[in-house]
Amino acid sequence: MNCKETILSRHSVRNFLQDPVPAEVLSDMLEAARLAPSAQNRQPWRFVVLQNPDKIKSMAFNCGLIGLSNFFIRNAPCVIVACADTDSNVRINGQDYYLVDTAIAFQQMMLMAWSHGIGSCWLAAFSEKKLKPFLELPKSWRIVALSPFGYPAEKQGLYSKAVKAFAGSKDRLAPDRIFRYID
Ligand SMILES: Cc1cc2nc3c(=O)[nH]c(=O)nc-3n(C[C@H](O)[C@H](O)[C@H](O)COP(=O)(O)O)c2cc1C
Repeated sequence: MNCKETILSRHSVRNFLQDPVPAEVLSDMLEAARLAPSAQNRQPWRFVVLQNPDKIKSMAFNCGLIGLSNFFIRNAPCVIVACADTDSNVRINGQDYYLVDTAIAFQQMMLMAWSHGIGSCWLAAFSEKKLKPFLELPKSWRIVALSPFGYPAEKQGLYSKAVKAFAGSKDRLAPDRIFRYID
């Protein structure tokens, strides 16, 4: 899949086959994140990769009450937690850039995954307080997001359909709401 096809066809995936993410695909995904741009090239992102089914299941139970809405991750063959080391943060114009930097890197990873047919779903609903000790993360790290990764199952579950309907996942703002052209 080329870049345009990848971006145009990507959508969030919440139901997965059990097949593992092939090692060479995972390697491409991690490299896509590693090569991302960042403010002052600080590269604050850190990624925790889980592929052990028991560990993934137990992680699904350790995302706190809010994380129950994303309990579907328990069935994914791979979960990656996108973190940022705040010791590598840079603050410009009153803005901390570790979030932006890590988001760019994670999205690059997701697009690379999709170009290989691997689906993902950006997840913000988790308790950092619960997850951080479970993953034994250093003090200076924040958890920015997490995502399951795997080949999409043909059949979408009820939950996935409900979330997509609730979020209006197919809708996008019209271009004239988004873009301003200045002569
Ligand atoms: C910052 C962010 C947080 C999100 N959090 C969740 C989440 O906690 N649970 C979930 O099922 N989807 C989550 N999503 C996925 C969005 O619902 C989805 O991207 C949106 O509805 C558009 O659908 P699409 O990705 O299929 O194009 C999140 C997406 C982003 C970018």
